[in-house]
Amino acid sequence: MAKILVLYFSRNGATADMANYIARGVASVDGAEAVLRTVPDVSAVCEKTAESIPAHGAIYATLDDLKSCDGLALGSPTHFGNMAAPLKYFIDSTTEIWFSGALSGKPAGVFTSTGSMHGGQESTLLSMMLPLLHQGMLIVGLPSTEHALRETTSGGTPYGPSHVSTNHTGLSDHEKILCKALGARLAKTALRLKQA
Ligand SMILES: Cc1cc2nc3c(=O)[nH]c(=O)nc-3n(C[C@H](O)[C@H](O)[C@H](O)COP(=O)(O)O)c2cc1C
Repeated sequence: MAKILVLYFSRNGATADMANYIARGVASVDGAEAVLRTVPDVSAVCEKTAESIPAHGAIYATLDDLKSCDGLALGSPTHFGNMAAPLKYFIDSTTEIWFSGALSGKPAGVFTSTGSMHGGQESTLLSMMLPLLHQGMLIVGLPSTEHALRETTSGGTPYGPSHVSTNHTGLSDHEKILCKALGARLAKTALRLKQA
């Protein structure tokens, strides 16, 4: 069995929707399962401590989730052309995993949601790959054989799935297809690497 961790931050639900479609793509592959996890928001001032279990949606990720996964899909809304601070904050707590090499050699992909079409999807996706490369992960993107990549008039990039949330109409069909494609690709790659 290959376990793909779908780890994301989402303030308003768009990136969470993408995470669910990526999980569906993972589950479409025999022998693979998706584990959905999120991270708590952060504040510039210490207002209060978050509940250890969120009121709704995925539960918060732990370092054990990272250690035990066979592959990782990492998702964030675009905040000023980059990943959101809460996800970066969690990544910055993974030094122990970095030194142990627990993620090294495992496949990883990235996904993002933006408010506008040209609001920095690619810069966010590329910058999200950097800590994963430091962790020794093998980056998986989307190939041009995915027809939706060429046909989309909304989100979708070779660097990973994306979503344009401007109209609040939910994911377009092309965006859903590309989310599922990344999930399936990660699952198949993780299974092959485990068997090698
Ligand atoms: C602090 C902040 C910065 C943002 N920066 C950008 C940006 O650089 N480009 C963009 O297109 N949208 C930007 N947005 C909009 C979000 O990326 C967009 O609404 C996204 O779909 C939210 O995802 P979520 O529903 O998962 O939180 C920003 C939103 C916030 C709150």
